[in-house]
Amino acid sequence: MTQENVLEALKNVTYPGFTKDIVTFGFVKDVLVNGTTVGLTIDITSSADEVKAQLRDEATTELKKLGFEQIQINVTAPQAPKQMSNSVSGKNIAPHVKNFVMVSSGKGGVGKSTTSVNLAIAMAMQGKKVGLLDADIYGPNIPRMMGVQDQKPEIQGNKVQPLKAYGVEIMSMGSLMEPGQSLIWRGSMIMKAIEQFLRDILWSELDVLVIDMPPGTGDAQLTLAQSVPVTAGITVTTPQEVSLDDSRRSLDMFQKLHIPTAGIIENMSGFICPSCDTESDIFGMGTTIPVAKEYDTDVIARIPIEPAIRVGGDTGMPVTYHMPDSETAKRFQEAASKLLTFIDKVNAEGGADNSAVQPTTPPGVSACSTGAGAASAPAKEPTNKNHEGCGCN
Ligand SMILES: Nc1ncnc2c1ncn2[C@@H]1O[C@H](COP(=O)(O)OP(=O)(O)O)[C@@H](O)[C@H]1O
Ligand SMILES: [Mg+2]
Repeated sequence: MTQENVLEALKNVTYPGFTKDIVTFGFVKDVLVNGTTVGLTIDITSSADEVKAQLRDEATTELKKLGFEQIQINVTAPQAPKQMSNSVSGKNIAPHVKNFVMVSSGKGGVGKSTTSVNLAIAMAMQGKKVGLLDADIYGPNIPRMMGVQDQKPEIQGNKVQPLKAYGVEIMSMGSLMEPGQSLIWRGSMIMKAIEQFLRDILWSELDVLVIDMPPGTGDAQLTLAQSVPVTAGITVTTPQEVSLDDSRRSLDMFQKLHIPTAGIIENMSGFICPSCDTESDIFGMGTTIPVAKEYDTDVIARIPIEPAIRVGGDTGMPVTYHMPDSETAKRFQEAASKLLTFIDKVNAEGGADNSAVQPTTPPGVSACSTGAGAASAPAKEPTNKNHEGCGCN
């Protein structure tokens, strides 16, 4: 028996969750054959024990079939990549939250908040402990969509108790300020606000915190990625080309921020007529599939335009909860299941790690400010003089 025989046999062992085998992936190394004795190393990217055990078992079975009697398989996981920053490890300022999901979009009005609300409720209905953080500090719509716009959160010391509706814990800038009030945000204030949402809100031990981001790719996204390891990124887009261009930027951002991409939600994809229940094409349908391919991800749901979604959003009665038999509720439930499976896969492969995107300056201090503590709590007036005229936003 030769090295070639061994490699050929191990092509029958696929890497869990993928269609490719461990030889094609290049994971099999140092094959040594001596009579009926074989030794080799499987050098895998995952450090999960189940993955290691499964690969060892399957490889052993294949090698026994070839006639080997002594089989030595060494499964190694490479060290985490060397970080390119001055911090000692990945960072998590909200360690009681198990998984963070960033819901982003290239532009506003595509259904990011609608998606965040319905995915959060769907996961709660599937038995998970779920929180929903409205990090869209420019347009905080979550309180209205969740029907809690008239409630004020309870303050405990310098921490804030989240609100609760439909089995989901909720916090939003909209619940902390007066209705209709606008805030003008400087970069450093955005960073501080995002950090406070994660650190100073009394979230329970959550399985998942869904985070509705402001549209685009900016300080809020970067701060979030640097503050906690984001397990999954979802981008919401409508099917038109102009929206797709922007969603590419979102997907590119996930890659740059080392956020595993769970997929695309194609919203306003077709129209379900309330009187005859037939689905018709309005903005185009299925246009996101090639974009998903480009970024090596999937379209995890196509949500049609359905008047009930808009009504549910405006009245604080989300479709997933109030109309569970509707087509859209079913699609949100399916997307939630896919998201949970994706989260499990990321965790089985070692989990999200944000050590590669740590800032080179202390948190809350933008790269161009000079003094520590330059950032201040969200305020109506800019308080950081260091920022003025330095070219940062
Ligand atoms: N699939 C849909 N069918 C009908 N109305 C929708 C749908 N998705 C979103 N809407 C409505 O469109 C508006 C914008 O959605 P929203 O979730 O607020 O977008 P974003 O958070 O991206 O700005 C809201 O009034 C919402 O109720
Ligand atoms: Mg929104």
